[in-house]
Amino acid sequence: MIILVVNGPNLNLLGTREPGIYGSTTLAQIEERLRERAKALDCEVEFFQSNHEGAIVDYLHSKMGEANGVVLNPGALAHYGLSLRDCLAALADVGVPAIEVHLSNIHAREGWRSNLVLAPVAKGMVAGVGWRGYLAALEVLVGLLREAQSTSL
Ligand code: DQA
Repeated sequence: MIILVVNGPNLNLLGTREPGIYGSTTLAQIEERLRERAKALDCEVEFFQSNHEGAIVDYLHSKMGEANGVVLNPGALAHYGLSLRDCLAALADVGVPAIEVHLSNIHAREGWRSNLVLAPVAKGMVAGVGWRGYLAALEVLVGLLREAQSTSL
């Protein structure tokens, strides 16, 4: 089972970027924790980060037919990334679900952060629990995919 862990704009700056909101854990540290958890869950994780919506769409297209699911922190693309939204809808259509992750509680911040254009095509969302949200999303995704595999046998 292959899970893609994708991070959008500005998430490469985690650790130093507004630590009061996003914490002081770096993206490399989050990826290491995910790698460990993936080992325990017996699945593979592949990581990708870009500050460009089109690069994320290209990456996801390149993994179609290979990846089973996506853990995605889209950064601000969550609020306006319509080509990413259409990409996630295409992935969902071929049975590849995405779980959206936000480190911060977007609903407790500026009003515009509650405008969520990807959420309607995501399988679910984890928000407001910091870096642990990525681990929760990975566990949920693997659990849902395994359940779907076993019921389709
Ligand atoms: C974020 C929330 C977004 O609103 C923001 O633009 C980010 C980070 C989060 O993880 O809390 O870049 O996705």
